[in-house]
Amino acid sequence: MTITKGKKAKLTLDGQELDLDVVVGSEGEHGIDISKLRAKTGYITLDEGYGNTGSCTSDITFINGEEGILRYRGYRIEDLCEQSSFTEACYLLLHDRLPSSEQMKTFSRLLNQHSLLHEDMRHLFSAFPHDAHPMNILGTMVNAMSSFYPNVDSLSMRESIDLTAARLISKIRTIACYAHKKNTGDPIVYPQKDYNYCENFLNMMFWSPVNNYELKPDRVRALNTLLILHADHEQNCSTSTVRLVGSSQANLYASISAGISALWGPLHGGANQAVLDMLNAIQTEGGDIQRFIDRAKDKTDNFRLSGFGHRVYKNYDPRATILKKMCMNILEEEAAQQPLLDIALRLEAAVLKDEYFVSRKLYPNVDFYSGLVYMALGFPTNMFTVLFTIGRLPGWIAHWKEMVQAPAKIGRPRQIYTGKQEQQYIKIEDRG
Ligand code: ACO
Repeated sequence: MTITKGKKAKLTLDGQELDLDVVVGSEGEHGIDISKLRAKTGYITLDEGYGNTGSCTSDITFINGEEGILRYRGYRIEDLCEQSSFTEACYLLLHDRLPSSEQMKTFSRLLNQHSLLHEDMRHLFSAFPHDAHPMNILGTMVNAMSSFYPNVDSLSMRESIDLTAARLISKIRTIACYAHKKNTGDPIVYPQKDYNYCENFLNMMFWSPVNNYELKPDRVRALNTLLILHADHEQNCSTSTVRLVGSSQANLYASISAGISALWGPLHGGANQAVLDMLNAIQTEGGDIQRFIDRAKDKTDNFRLSGFGHRVYKNYDPRATILKKMCMNILEEEAAQQPLLDIALRLEAAVLKDEYFVSRKLYPNVDFYSGLVYMALGFPTNMFTVLFTIGRLPGWIAHWKEMVQAPAKIGRPRQIYTGKQEQQYIKIEDRG
């Protein structure tokens, strides 16, 4: 952790002057430390949506939203997508360094060993209705893992955290594929030890006794890239949820399950499914993109263009740049999906010229093109957010680990109360 202090911010309040420490991170980001503010003045700060609030310091991921920079543990997302694999990115996020070949072999072996689900967990799948959303199944099953698998019971035991992490990263992919098979009614496919992480994922998703799914290297590569791109994004809604739940010393499975619920929302990870629904709706309604843009600008209409805008990026999301390129390459071979790609490209071009979006710095985000790539790989739309979840899992675990290994406080924001002042209790028979 590299933090420097020195500079002070001055706050004048009720005639009193207060010096506040200024904390500077390793990339020059500045924060005013207000942790003693209430004790010294009786005041708190108010920041709805936490747009200006740093909840922690963290060594994991650096984002510069103005310049469109994203790095995990110092490594550029562009380099990782081009040269690394998802499992190597997992190792990097969890251990703060790239693995040696020996460490990578051991980690892969661990993932392989833990890829199966306890057979009793299969009964839980049968209890869901056949059309249950796979995100719902995923969150439930990850929570149930607390009962089926030993937990991180001693936070000082590093090995136990690493084992639980490997178990989660490996099994979540098996759960996701079982959830999909539950939807389709097809027999489940077990993981195979000779396949790597993404090969196993694709095989468990798409192989069936009547469809000998062929693993194509470009598809495996595309899936690796998609998962790397989603692997962490510092203190977003779901990661903050994982940290907040974990701060009560809830176990890792329970904390991750809460993160899955947060990610499911359409303003967060659910946006990738919403983008596809939107592109399909534009196509069905004759391809009139302007009508959708006008609706998004209309303040009396709740509709927003899914896949545009971001709390942190006020420039093109670097993940969207990588995905757009991948989308064009992959969709070249998929004639059936060309019309949706055309609509997406036309929509982006129109938005980037429109004063409403330009003045608010609303650019395509990671979800705008990811859905089209998922679709080209054969995933149904209800699996899109599940894919995001699998990608984001190592980041969540890395944050949980970072938090429990530091002397962390329970997360507990305050509020400004705006309700009624003290009321006199009236017995029910005396109320008018
Ligand atoms: N379409 C139309 N207008 C938008 C959009 C959009 N997609 N996004 C933001 N705006 C407008 C808002 O109406 C607001 O306008 P105003 O200043 O006139 O009131 C302004 O831009 C700022 O928007 P906020 O909601 O204040 O921005 P915030 O940072 O809180 O929200 C968010 C970011 C949630 C991503 C938002 O841009 C959005 O809803 N986008 C669509 C959903 C989406 O794509 N989500 C995925 C995000 S990426 C991720 O989670 C992986």
